[in-house]
Amino acid sequence: MASATVHTSLTFFFLLILGKALARDPFACDPRDARTAGLPFCRTTLPISERVKDLVGRLTTNEKVRLLVNKAAAVPHLGIKEYEWWSEALHGVSFTGPGVIFDDDFSGATSFPQVITTAASFNVTLWEAIGQVVSDEARAMYNGGAAGLTYWSPNVNIFRDPRWGRGQETPGEDPMMAGVYAASYVKGLQGNNGDRLKVAACCKHLTAYDLDDWNGVDRYHFNAKVTKQDMEDTFNVPFKMCVTEGNVASVMCSYNKVNGVPTCADPNLLKKTVRSQWGLNGYIVSDCDSVDVFYNAQHYTSTPEEAAAVAIKAGLDLDCGTFLANYTEKALNRGLLSEADIDGALFNTLAVQMRLGMYDGEPSTQPFGNLGPRDVCTPAHQELALEAARQGIVLLKNDRPSLPLSNLRHRTIAVIGPNANVTDTMIGNYAGFPCQYTSPLQGIRNYAKTIYQPGCADVACSNDTLFGGAINAAHQADATVLVMGLDQSIEAEFIDRIGLLLPGRQQDLVSRVAMASKGPTILVLMSGGPIDVSFAKNDPRISAIIWAGYPGQAGGAAIADVLYGTTNPEGKLPMTWYPQDYVSNLPMTEMSMRPSSIKGYPGRTYRFYKGPVVYPFGHGLSYTNFVNTIASAPNVVHVPIFGCHRSGNCTFSDQSIKVSHAKCDKLSLVLHVDVKNVGSKDGTHTLLVFSEPPAGHLAPHKQLVAFEKVHIPAGARQRVRIHIHVCKFLSIIDTAGVRRIPLGVHNLHIGDVTHTVSLQAVAHRLIKS
Ligand SMILES: *[C@@H]1O[C@H](CO)[C@@H](O)[C@H](O)[C@H]1NC(C)=O
Ligand SMILES: *[C@@H]1O[C@H](CO)[C@@H](O)[C@H](O)[C@H]1NC(C)=O
Ligand SMILES: *[C@@H]1O[C@H](CO)[C@@H](O)[C@H](O)[C@H]1NC(C)=O
Ligand SMILES: *[C@@H]1O[C@H](CO)[C@@H](O)[C@H](O)[C@H]1NC(C)=O
Ligand SMILES: *[C@@H]1O[C@H](CO)[C@@H](O)[C@H](O)[C@H]1NC(C)=O
Repeated sequence: MASATVHTSLTFFFLLILGKALARDPFACDPRDARTAGLPFCRTTLPISERVKDLVGRLTTNEKVRLLVNKAAAVPHLGIKEYEWWSEALHGVSFTGPGVIFDDDFSGATSFPQVITTAASFNVTLWEAIGQVVSDEARAMYNGGAAGLTYWSPNVNIFRDPRWGRGQETPGEDPMMAGVYAASYVKGLQGNNGDRLKVAACCKHLTAYDLDDWNGVDRYHFNAKVTKQDMEDTFNVPFKMCVTEGNVASVMCSYNKVNGVPTCADPNLLKKTVRSQWGLNGYIVSDCDSVDVFYNAQHYTSTPEEAAAVAIKAGLDLDCGTFLANYTEKALNRGLLSEADIDGALFNTLAVQMRLGMYDGEPSTQPFGNLGPRDVCTPAHQELALEAARQGIVLLKNDRPSLPLSNLRHRTIAVIGPNANVTDTMIGNYAGFPCQYTSPLQGIRNYAKTIYQPGCADVACSNDTLFGGAINAAHQADATVLVMGLDQSIEAEFIDRIGLLLPGRQQDLVSRVAMASKGPTILVLMSGGPIDVSFAKNDPRISAIIWAGYPGQAGGAAIADVLYGTTNPEGKLPMTWYPQDYVSNLPMTEMSMRPSSIKGYPGRTYRFYKGPVVYPFGHGLSYTNFVNTIASAPNVVHVPIFGCHRSGNCTFSDQSIKVSHAKCDKLSLVLHVDVKNVGSKDGTHTLLVFSEPPAGHLAPHKQLVAFEKVHIPAGARQRVRIHIHVCKFLSIIDTAGVRRIPLGVHNLHIGDVTHTVSLQAVAHRLIKS
């Protein structure tokens, strides 16, 4: 007895000092609650579908409708607590949603670079690893009562227009790359444990949402006019890959209308496309107040009850907002929808909660139940944030070359600019409180003596009052590093940019400092969107340009590591850097991806726009040089076709065949490329493979079909195997929105090397009807 008492009080003592890690009460199905202990929905041995059915059967209508919103009400008689569905984790656990509360036990979380920077690494392993770390921290915070388990991240809209304020949140402008990013990050967040979820991710905002506020048009009123072709080969690609390859547990519909229909009210999009065709296993949530927006701002229905009914019948399962809790029961009473419609929505949300283990009783004994405050901001997690920044930084220009700097020759550095000693600018939007910060100034101080001068009071840089100090500093130092660019006052949610140039007098500061600089002048840019820095590209006094994106909590350390060559840069631009002229006569509201010479419309992204650029998609230099040669590659690929059983019609147009008629399994094109590091430094090479389909299909003039990264020591050579899925990536979309494989000659571009391959159809076998 005595020893048992000691044991109990010791356990109690540990519970106290571990604090919230073990303190969370069960969300539901508390084993101590006699009312629910024996009920089927609490029985972990039953299939989830049966448990959900049992639970839904026990709810009153009034209880049901109060579960249709992000702040889902408690169901006291069934021992279910209230739940906040809205948490965010775009690049670290974020305080943007009300589900996350940073407190004494969890005062910060690892803040990775903003997504546009991480995307520039082109490293699929890194993307998934970040998701794993973020979900460890999210689970730890959930255990401590400081966060939810449902995260409305990532944002995988196409970065279509360079002015978009939220482009920073996305993996860039290429649909395939955005899809691969989505699937990798989602896998990292959700864990690879069958139907069980570590946390539930969400790909947003479906679809064609990439305008916040431009020239009087805002996202709540915007009607995006999109062709079937652009929808299928651009806007929906990342969402489809997120569902089919990432098995994401949620998709969020957006605010805007698409071709006149609000996305959250569109059964063709939600029920037919996402749930039936793509096979979403999870729930569809609205952007916050989307239902209210399509009723009150877009006047899509004449009564609020109709709006509630239309949304649920279209396939919406959860409303971020209060609308469905207020109006669904009235809609039911008016016969605008059925109880079965409501049950269908609940089935989708409750099943996700069950897959998260929320009805499995005591949280501390479940998977991840042991994670607590000591698992957040660990040295390993913070090291990964630093590593992600190093991998994402892009070297745009390096004349002579002047980088890396030398510890011996560059002992005193003038560190200049409004972003030179910033902290929260480095983490962009949808961030949390980071574990700590290393600003560029602090990073450079680990390598050299510094003279710091902001040059401008802020990024708006409205006057030259502080220029004198900056010019003096540059005059005295062995080298000058200017850290310029943007922040959330220039590009953000609600704020699209007006132009692409550096704000205010920044350009003037850079040029004047470069003129005064005794040593090399290096321009470092922080921004989500591209900046027209033609002036610096063309100025011989500015010897190097680096784009750091928003590099996260350790960004300054990573920038310094690149400047001094501790890290050999390897990032590549995930979006085109256009000249200012590109946007001067281009409405942001014009959604067409394809150019039109009649309309004088330039087209969008590297896949369609062929005009002048400041830096192209995929640009990024290294401190070494790589040479690619093709070791082996087929000249002909036979595409087996079948699928003519219904009509017995096995002919196909001589130009292309429908993907649905091809036998796609295992149909791949394998290239072997030898990469030689011909420079004197070890480095990492990012191989981007573009395909140029045969002409005459209104297809992209080229598109990314594969990417691979390899680390290669100086002087060494490595053979890289590249696998291209023919049906997925060598196909194109026709004007009816149908995916087809164009037959004939495709040119594959790998750096400077081009390889030609001919796709030819062969009848595989006929299926008799
Ligand atoms: C990709 O990132 C991971 C995680 O940081 C790293 O271990 C790996 O070396 C990177 N791959 C390449 C080829 O650099
Ligand atoms: C729903 O009702 C609550 C409480 O009356 C109110 O605060 C909220 O604004 C309502 N929401 C909508 C969308 O009507
Ligand atoms: C740089 O920023 C840090 C953090 O905000 C601040 O503590 C420090 O004083 C700044 N350094 C200079 C030289 O202004
Ligand atoms: C220069 O700009 C700063 C920051 O906007 C402002 O505080 C200051 O008054 C301005 N100085 C002059 C001379 O306009
Ligand atoms: C067979 O397919 C071709 C090409 O798609 C079409 O023109 C033709 O009408 C079809 N014939 C029948 C009998 O369906």
